[in-house]
Amino acid sequence: MALLLRAEELKGILSLDEAISAVEQGFRDQGEAPTFSLPRQRLIADDRRISVHSGGCLSLGVAGTFIHYERFRFTPEDQSYAGVGRRVYVVYESETAKLLTVIVGSLPLFEFDRPEDSVATETAITSAVGTKYLAREDAKTMGLFGTGRQARRHLKAMCAIRPIEQVKVFSRNPDNRRAFCDLMRQHVNAELRPVETAQDAARGVDLIVCATGSNVPVLFGEWLHKGVHVTSIVGSNKELLAEGSVSRPRRELDDEVLVRADLVVATLVQQAIQDEQGDLFEPWRRGLFSWEEIKELGQLVSGKVKGRTHDEQITVFKQNSDQGVGFMALARMVYEKARQRGIGTEI
Ligand SMILES: NC(=O)c1ccc[n+]([C@@H]2O[C@H](COP(=O)([O-])OP(=O)(O)OC[C@H]3O[C@@H](n4cnc5c(N)ncnc54)[C@H](OP(=O)(O)O)[C@@H]3O)[C@@H](O)[C@H]2O)c1
Repeated sequence: MALLLRAEELKGILSLDEAISAVEQGFRDQGEAPTFSLPRQRLIADDRRISVHSGGCLSLGVAGTFIHYERFRFTPEDQSYAGVGRRVYVVYESETAKLLTVIVGSLPLFEFDRPEDSVATETAITSAVGTKYLAREDAKTMGLFGTGRQARRHLKAMCAIRPIEQVKVFSRNPDNRRAFCDLMRQHVNAELRPVETAQDAARGVDLIVCATGSNVPVLFGEWLHKGVHVTSIVGSNKELLAEGSVSRPRRELDDEVLVRADLVVATLVQQAIQDEQGDLFEPWRRGLFSWEEIKELGQLVSGKVKGRTHDEQITVFKQNSDQGVGFMALARMVYEKARQRGIGTEI
């Protein structure tokens, strides 16, 4: 019998540290068996989008898919959700081929998420895994771009992997910046400070996280100093351009960020190529680097490529899409815990 799990039943089932270690194991599997994983696939028609993240983790004995559907609003500057369906994990046991579990809803990993905001909770976990291998071990100061759902979660996840003491927070609207800091002071020990300009947020910090809905660069390479690490989460799809939703591929970084970096890691390079994602595809098309120079999260976690090797390096993690392997690894851990606690419905 398989287990049907509803996200509401899973509150508190995984700590952030456990979620991070599960996703890390998922990407280790991907690094070791890359063929058991597909880049996220998307169908886009006008403002409607279906996304499917498929993959399997041989070491964890799971394989399957994670699916979601949304509608969007686009302006030249940014995108936002107009409607969001519940997400669904469909997970098989890879050895027996039995259906193991169906999980309805994103995992409730963050105590401050309101039910209506509870989508894509897993993204900050993938970001934390890559950042763990790339940011300086002693990173204490952070510049955070964005004050929405992903920014809240990224703040919490970054504080879980690094001893963050001070955070400068920037987004375009000063009320959003203030409200973000007021809310999040209750959830992290770091000192949070809203700042007036994007450059202020980037100045002198050890770690920069861009977690915005922007369609245009928010971070510029000329602002970076030695030793800083940048994590950025905006992706893009060539279909958005074809449908006329945006007039240029979405960006969160300018070319100079990539050019100045000593090491750039993407969640998956093939994702950037398949979707022609602006932050990597545009500078690649301009001949600023080759795809071989961009490393992948699976390679990093499985030890096939080295992360940061000295304190002066500038590193970038382009978290260009969550992948099936991460979702499957989370599902395996959630399933085991749910079985132990007698949670869920047999189907
Ligand atoms: N890589 C992945 O796996 C992955 C997965 C899911 C989502 N995402 C991406 O996550 C992003 C954020 O999603 P969300 O749910 O957090 O959206 P959200 O709740 O709508 O928040 C978006 C935030 O971006 C800020 N923003 C927009 N333009 C900005 C700019 N130019 N400079 C600074 N801040 C700016 C907005 O604040 P102001 O209005 O105050 O500027 C807002 O705080 C989206 O772009 C989405 O594509 C990535």
